[in-house]
Amino acid sequence: MRSTTIAGNWKMHKTQAEAKAFLQAFAPLWQPQAGVDVVLCAPFTALAMLSGAIAATGLPVSLGAQNVHWAETGAFTGEIAPGMLVELGIRYVVVGHSERRQFFGETDATVNQRVRAAQAHGLTPILCVGETKVLRAQGQVESWIFDQLDRALADTTALPVIAYEPIWAIGTGDTCAPTEANRVLQSIRHHLGDRGAEATLLYGGSVKGNNIAEILTQPEIDGVLVGGASLDPEEFAQIANAAQP
Ligand code: PGA
Repeated sequence: MRSTTIAGNWKMHKTQAEAKAFLQAFAPLWQPQAGVDVVLCAPFTALAMLSGAIAATGLPVSLGAQNVHWAETGAFTGEIAPGMLVELGIRYVVVGHSERRQFFGETDATVNQRVRAAQAHGLTPILCVGETKVLRAQGQVESWIFDQLDRALADTTALPVIAYEPIWAIGTGDTCAPTEANRVLQSIRHHLGDRGAEATLLYGGSVKGNNIAEILTQPEIDGVLVGGASLDPEEFAQIANAAQP
């Protein structure tokens, strides 16, 4: 089922105290709606606190992690096992973000392992794909993204949430034109074949309070993955409130 998903990716921002302050400021500004899933992908260190706060207040926000390993346990210093996230009531996990690929050696093969492990534990991956400016100039947007998708989805039975995040639009203020994002998502949906109609497809890259309305009017865009603008409770509430089921 396609659902509207508004996900904030805090990246390496917010201590527990800052995360708590965010939640307190965000809660009264946000108007939750049935059929719109609002997700906070917080640092590992804030997830337990957020999970407890959400349980205590009944705030209908979902939690996401920003990475997950494929092993149950083991000698993998610095990694997080799926069961550690499940125990905290985490529902989503970002996998294959371009910053992981660019700075931490993430490959399509490890992305695939992470996607499969997350799904095996009932976590919903938010799988990120997207091209560089150079690939775009070379006319390789679709071929690049389809390769990333095919490798990430190998041997999976369910579809993750898929986020199209053109790398040149991340953190740059250089938003992809909504009609162009819509066009790429339409071709992704088509590439997914029978499964495409049901896929939840997001756009990410410099989504802000002042461009969310135009982005969400696009028929193929089921929601957004928001970086910088998700750090501010007022702006993220504005973005979340703009979504329709
Ligand atoms: P941005 O980041 O909204 O700051 O461009 C998006 C992302 O990296 O998911």
